[in-house]
Amino acid sequence: MGPCPIAHNPRVAFVGAGPGDPELITLKGLRRLREAEVVLHDRLVPPELLDEVAPGATVIDVGKAPDRRCRGQGEINWLLVDWARRRERVVRLKGGDPAIFGRLGEEIEAVRAAGIAFEVVPGVTAATAAAARAGISLTARGRASMLVVATGTDHAGGPPAALDWDLLARAEGTLVFYMPLGSLEAITAGLTALGRDPREPTMLIERIGTPHERVLSGRLGDIAEAARAAGVRSPAVLVTGPTVASASVELGVRQILASARV
Ligand SMILES: C[S@@+](CC[C@H](N)C(=O)[O-])C[C@H]1O[C@@H](n2cnc3c(N)ncnc32)[C@H](O)[C@@H]1O
Repeated sequence: MGPCPIAHNPRVAFVGAGPGDPELITLKGLRRLREAEVVLHDRLVPPELLDEVAPGATVIDVGKAPDRRCRGQGEINWLLVDWARRRERVVRLKGGDPAIFGRLGEEIEAVRAAGIAFEVVPGVTAATAAAARAGISLTARGRASMLVVATGTDHAGGPPAALDWDLLARAEGTLVFYMPLGSLEAITAGLTALGRDPREPTMLIERIGTPHERVLSGRLGDIAEAARAAGVRSPAVLVTGPTVASASVELGVRQILASARV
């Protein structure tokens, strides 16, 4: 027997929750969340946002926490389609922006293949939130005319072999690595071995927008060791480039911010 025919008019909204701080969601994203009959959310979404969901709505954590059974991507895709067949307003709430390292494409494919309408509501991604919290620009006329957003971890858990490391080492701009912690030494040593300046100002911004936020400021050549010493934890982003320059770098590696929410 095939799937049930869809008798209603469902729409799946992929909503960016922003990183850490619940106030970083867009007005549209918040409206979709409040209207939702079903919310499937990631582990990293700010928990306060779930208080915005209407009473009686179904809320499902599909997050992949390291310490418990992972839902495979196939199961998440199936859940999305299954709920959209039963309810009209389904929200898939994702940390940051859904289109940045969020496996959005695979979920859109599943929804589209089932003939279900969807929309994407963008969110603030960790890179721009990190820059905002550290008080830096990611681009600068004449100094950083490109911004590269890369993953620091591939499927096997190491630095991605598919990245063009030569190009990254030469890129005259800002590099932001998501999921960098497992490969920090390999990323930084690899970039400097290929010619990137080990004295380049570099930051690790940890748990942005949460009460545990820290900004670790240093240089490309020493940030991995400093992160180890400071016990930096996930989630964090690594930002390196000429615009990262700040007075604190001259003082060596140190924590420059302790708390995010004001
Ligand atoms: C699977 S990716 C999702 C990225 C997300 N879609 C975005 O746009 O920010 C998870 C990675 O994003 C970064 N990230 C997400 N939230 C963060 C936060 N609150 N603080 C620092 N980094 C964060 C970290 O590098 C983390 O390992």
